[in-house]
Amino acid sequence: MSIIKDLNKNMKKIVEKTGYQEENVILQPSGRRDLGQFQLNDAMNLAKIYKKNPRIIAQDIVKVLEEDGRFTNLNIAGPGFINITLTDEYLGELLTKIYEDKSLNIDKRPKKKVVLDYGGANVAKALHVGHLRSANIGEALKRLAKALGYEVIGDAHLGDYGRPLGLVVLEIKKRYPNLAYFDTSYKGDYSEIKLTITNKDLEEIYPFASNKSKEDEEYLEEARDITYKIQNHERGYYDLWKKVVEISKNDIKQVYDKLNVNFELWLGESDAAEYIDELTEIYEQQNALTESEGAQVVEVKEETDKSPMPPLLFKRSNGTISYETTDLATILQRKKELNPDEIWYCVDARQGLHFEQVFRAARKVKLVDDNVGLEHIGFGTMNGKDGKPFKTRDGGVMSLKNLIALVEEVTRKKINPDTVEESKREEVAEEVAIAALKYADLLPYRGTDYIFDPEKFADLEGKTGPYLLYSTIRMKSLLDKGSTLNIGKITQFKTETEKDIALTILRLPIVLDKALDSRSLNDITEYIYKLTSLYNKFYAENRILTEENKELQKSWLTLTKIVYDINMLLLDILAIKVPEKM
Ligand code: ARG
Repeated sequence: MSIIKDLNKNMKKIVEKTGYQEENVILQPSGRRDLGQFQLNDAMNLAKIYKKNPRIIAQDIVKVLEEDGRFTNLNIAGPGFINITLTDEYLGELLTKIYEDKSLNIDKRPKKKVVLDYGGANVAKALHVGHLRSANIGEALKRLAKALGYEVIGDAHLGDYGRPLGLVVLEIKKRYPNLAYFDTSYKGDYSEIKLTITNKDLEEIYPFASNKSKEDEEYLEEARDITYKIQNHERGYYDLWKKVVEISKNDIKQVYDKLNVNFELWLGESDAAEYIDELTEIYEQQNALTESEGAQVVEVKEETDKSPMPPLLFKRSNGTISYETTDLATILQRKKELNPDEIWYCVDARQGLHFEQVFRAARKVKLVDDNVGLEHIGFGTMNGKDGKPFKTRDGGVMSLKNLIALVEEVTRKKINPDTVEESKREEVAEEVAIAALKYADLLPYRGTDYIFDPEKFADLEGKTGPYLLYSTIRMKSLLDKGSTLNIGKITQFKTETEKDIALTILRLPIVLDKALDSRSLNDITEYIYKLTSLYNKFYAENRILTEENKELQKSWLTLTKIVYDINMLLLDILAIKVPEKM
């Protein structure tokens, strides 16, 4: 059990010694540090239970606290708030324990298997800013949940199955009609065919085909037909589609690599295709499909609905499978192949209705047991300064690569040429840019929109990625310089700042719990900023390396090491890499 939780348990015991009893006794961090480090507000509650004056109860508790010896500056305020401060000795002991604990005193949870669906890049289309948040939030949530003891399987769930693919293959056919893929008499092995199309071509082909299909009904019809052929594994079309997926996947992987995002599984919507027949059978057997204008749908409306809940489109009249149905098939696939306790979807909040439909349709036929969680972890958008989803200057969708480049333009100027050798500068500028972008993305509560502002994100001061990197690197450098000293114990404090740092360190397990429960990283990004800025205040106030009181100096360096380790842990959870120098 973490020290902070243990402290609460001890408090409960202390209260019990007075003869009073209460289920939850909670030591609150004090909002008035001049009065104490913690506040215990339970006397008021106990007064109601025992029909006594709360101040009398508070006095009884204070008496036991005094006898204990580990608490000091005990005083009662107002109707019975007890202000509590830990003695320096006790606080130092607790911090020493954290230093000695290799896992930084984190509480692990009972094991649970979670499939986390995030990323959601679409094949043959460039990754765009809309995919950024899914990648950042998803990766960080995955790392957080793993750190707290869950088994998490991240799946990229590539968009590789719907009409966009039909369009791309159609347009390739129009441009290169002589390719063997379209020659029905070709009997050879398609893997021997050299295809010169690159990812860059695909990025041009898809928007072209998509626009054309909006004006040209015949073209759209042809694309639908090809989509059907691909979905039914028709020789040639299916093989070309596979090739397109492969080309595109390589490029997608590169961008995710840059973002420090790694998936355990690289499955796509198409991988669930083999479950479509079984899925259809389940729905048919349970009479869950309804005919509607030639299409098949699943009714998912409930009586209590306050807003419209259209039926889920299961199969279109032309026989093609919808986005909804691939998601249902994927649930079936995950159940059969992975059997998770929960499936989380880290996807734009604007897909809320889609997931509500899918979850309801899944529950309707019990695709998974009732106790298996299906959860949409939605997020807000990254907007431009005009408050609308961020676009390129000409109103198009900004690719993720270009977006990163915009931030890099700013971070490049912040790299110190005296510390970073020339050959490394570009790499460091990119790492700092990614840190800037990621930290800014994870700073607000996930559901909140925020504004893309590269200058602000890359600032070396304030709540930014670069500030945290810079400070963490400096801690490391200090620790290196003091590495000959035998650190490991905190026996002394000089100022209140150090104690504030210590109290903040104690709170770490609570922050991690809260972040995982809310499925949002904002508590962590706020916490790491708070811890770091407190540390920097302490750093500015003292001359650590020349301090003559050796015990104090060792205590300071031990404290530095804990803060450094916490920063490294949290930056790793946020999937932010720390360069050696910047
Ligand atoms: N490819 C989709 C898109 O770009 C996101 C996929 C999200 N995951 C899912 N299981 N539906 O909108």
